[in-house]
Amino acid sequence: MTTRIFCRVCDGDVEEFVDFGRQPVSNAFVVPGEEDSEYFFPLAVGACSSCHMVQLVEEVPRERMFHQDYPYLSSGSVLMRNHWERTAKSFLSTELTGDDPFVVELGCNDGVLLETIAHSGVRHLGVEPSGGVADIAAGKGIRVRKDFFEESVAARIREQEGPADVVFAANTLCHIPYIGSVLRGVRDLLSENGVFVFEDPYLGDIVDRTSFDQIYDEHFYFFSAHSVRETARLHSLELVDVERLPVHGGEVRYTLAPAGSRTPSEAVAGLLAEEAASGLTLPATLTAFGERVERIRADLRALLTRLRDEGSRVMAYGATAKSATVLNHCGIGPDLVECVVDTTPAKQGRLTPGSHIPVVPADRFGAPYPDHVLLLAWNHAEEIMAKEEGFRAAGGQWITYVPEVRVTGS
Ligand code: SAM
Ligand code: TMP
Ligand code: ZN
Repeated sequence: MTTRIFCRVCDGDVEEFVDFGRQPVSNAFVVPGEEDSEYFFPLAVGACSSCHMVQLVEEVPRERMFHQDYPYLSSGSVLMRNHWERTAKSFLSTELTGDDPFVVELGCNDGVLLETIAHSGVRHLGVEPSGGVADIAAGKGIRVRKDFFEESVAARIREQEGPADVVFAANTLCHIPYIGSVLRGVRDLLSENGVFVFEDPYLGDIVDRTSFDQIYDEHFYFFSAHSVRETARLHSLELVDVERLPVHGGEVRYTLAPAGSRTPSEAVAGLLAEEAASGLTLPATLTAFGERVERIRADLRALLTRLRDEGSRVMAYGATAKSATVLNHCGIGPDLVECVVDTTPAKQGRLTPGSHIPVVPADRFGAPYPDHVLLLAWNHAEEIMAKEEGFRAAGGQWITYVPEVRVTGS
């Protein structure tokens, strides 16, 4: 007998479509010698047959992922820094032009977006549970509250600061299994004409590109216009705009407003129609995705094994959270990849979770270059390949695996 899995949004039935087995916490980089104390959980994904929300079937306790030493820094990419500055300026010239406007950002991390808002003098508050990154934001003069945003925290903010014109969350809402509590809180915190804007990896892009490494502990939900519209409706909010974004391998920026307060844009109907036409809400589409994942897994393992047997030197680039799924699911360890280069200080000197490949600073990447580099941070390909042009010039070849396994120049 199979156990029924309840949808975290609507209590409907969740049908599992891909299972990655036991996986570690994706950002829990391991101190050498402490490999035996790692935490593992069953990583599998399913879709709700009622509201269509795609979701993990099991959550990792939030304090295991987001804590004082959470290593991810949002400012790590130049292209993303520009993206955040543009986003902040766009709010400043649209939603934040009234009398004493107020913006709240959930998951502000190191403050990369709010610093532009703070410089403009607009009233703001970041809500960020991970203490270390919150301290970096506070050091930039940003007002930060160290908390997990949820209904009770929203009520306290409203009491202390008044209603918000904008609540913003990037790559954060999809991280929160208790989304009902968050949306009730947002609904309560927003002013009558306020908006909740959030951007997260888009299910349509994940399925199109077979970017299965977007599936890991922190990414609990995989949003589509269909599932977001229904989730919003359940909380007296309405999906009033959508915008596709090229960042992080393909995202959508969704805008929700109190139900009836704004007219939905044509883009909403457009994306809903696109999803219906491509069959994004059909179980068969997701099952086919699961089958393609297994093909990539076999191809990547076969390639890396052949390169090792031929005596090729292989390194990896970008110790991303995403890479936990690809490395562990494909069984890629230090026998196949000698190290992973990464600019994040808190990851260096440690081992990748579960797969135990040493993480080394970016300045270790130089002549003599390895023969091949597995690009784990494929979402930053343009920036990284431009920066590391010397590797290509020296005859090195990049290996990518989204949407399929490829070796550049071959
Ligand atoms: N917004 C940044 C960006 O897009 O680069 C940071 C994204 S990071 C992947 C996710 C952030 O969400 C982490 O800094 C984490 O601490 C924070 N977070 C997790 N749960 C949260 C919650 N309930 N409320 C607010 N922030 C949360
Ligand atoms: P992300 O895909 O979650 O943004 O993570 C990107 C990771 O790649 C992060 O650990 C920082 C690292 N990185 C580099 O090492 N060099 C770079 O040039 C860029 C853009 C990222
Ligand atoms: Zn549901």
